[in-house]
Amino acid sequence: MKVKWDESLKLGIEELDQQRKELFKEINKFFEDLELNVDSNLINNEENREQVDDLFYFLTDYFVTHFQLEEKFHRQYNPAGYQEHQKLHQELIDTVNELKYEYFDTEDEDKINKDLLLSIRGQVLIFWKKHIREEDMVIKQV
Ligand SMILES: [Fe+2]
Repeated sequence: MKVKWDESLKLGIEELDQQRKELFKEINKFFEDLELNVDSNLINNEENREQVDDLFYFLTDYFVTHFQLEEKFHRQYNPAGYQEHQKLHQELIDTVNELKYEYFDTEDEDKINKDLLLSIRGQVLIFWKKHIREEDMVIKQV
């Protein structure tokens, strides 16, 4: 499974587009790394643990810095929908935090299970498809 980047995903706002491209690369890296392991049931190993750690660190940072920057542009280009969009960001932050707590609560690496990994992957995919591809498009400038 892969997410696809194409020119239609550009918002025409340089700073945001660069960060969105970086997100796309990170998501694909995670999917590619994980795919083989999930499919072959080699889930409970250190390498997997590191991949999921990396993704959470990236997403946590991304959600703070990118959303703040993006919201500035929403205030400018989408004032009527600004608050609603801010709510969507908060919901995404809550979702990633819930998954993160569930994941980091699992101190014993043998207990990282396939369901949790699949649900992390599922949420990342929904974020990409629904938020990046659709909901962010209200501030498109090209
Ligand atoms: Fe957004």
